[in-house]
Amino acid sequence: MSRAATECGVRVDVADGRPALYEATLRNLQAEVKELPAVWLYDERGSRLYEEITRLPEYYLPRREGEILRARAGTIAGRTQARTLVELGAGGARNTRVLLDALDIERFVPLDVSAQTLRASAQAIAAAYPRIFVHAIVGDFERDLDTLPGRGPRLIALLGSTIGNLYPVQRARFLATLASALGEEDAFLVGVDLVKDVARLEAAYNDTKGVTEAFVRNALDAVDAELDATFDQQRFVYEARWDPEHEWMDIGFRARQAHSVSIQGLEIDLAFEEGEPLRVEISSKFRREQLELEAGRAGLRVESWWTDHAGDFAVALVFADGKDV
Ligand code: AVI
Repeated sequence: MSRAATECGVRVDVADGRPALYEATLRNLQAEVKELPAVWLYDERGSRLYEEITRLPEYYLPRREGEILRARAGTIAGRTQARTLVELGAGGARNTRVLLDALDIERFVPLDVSAQTLRASAQAIAAAYPRIFVHAIVGDFERDLDTLPGRGPRLIALLGSTIGNLYPVQRARFLATLASALGEEDAFLVGVDLVKDVARLEAAYNDTKGVTEAFVRNALDAVDAELDATFDQQRFVYEARWDPEHEWMDIGFRARQAHSVSIQGLEIDLAFEEGEPLRVEISSKFRREQLELEAGRAGLRVESWWTDHAGDFAVALVFADGKDV
């Protein structure tokens, strides 16, 4: 990891994940269902579009999570006694402020793949909370989890239902790595979107202004620019639909016609059939028993489970199994 800058109470470290991303891109595009790693969504423009999504009327997730955090932040502070707050996939870190206001912390460690968004939000937080040292890490929480800085007790937060963007097997790996990184005094706080009425779920990813479509389409532009590829927007229809078997939103495209795409940076040509899907992300929706089961398998225990007034979203406080509170 290289140390990029130290500016007025903000340190920024950059972990170079490009080689791993290119390998994953090559592997996923050659899989039976072609897929682009969701990391491609979060370049500078994509991160701005995602911020816009969080303010859409159809996209209820951040508002519901904010409601829960505002009601429970005092309890979370009391139970964890956290001195360091690590936020994985921090992005704009909006709901984080609710935690920062309630916790008595000395260090905030936001980690995100998007350097620009992270820098801007780290600087804003450092200015708003001058007593807190901000140590930002440009990285990927699936990969950089075991090198997280900060003295305990630490609260590691993964908000916004970002955990739902991992496949079950990736989640299992993430939770197991997290369990081994958690010290006895540390805690994990996770926000999860819940299984609900299909029409509402589909509306959240097919907003009427088309911001979500623009966000997902931006991944194609990002790959074209960085890997010298020929993904043509006109040849793909956006599609975000509920998959009842896996209980996730399946988000990406279908090819309008048979055609091929060249990706010079990966030295491949990809043939698409008419109607063939190209997945860009999944967004899993949860049930309490499922999260408890997955946490338990990783050696973690869900100590508290809080939902918003409508039962749309939940925030869980999790400890390493065996820790008494
Ligand atoms: C970041 N993540 C939790 C969002 C979600 O809802 O899965 C990403 C997103 N994709 C389209 N809209 C929002």
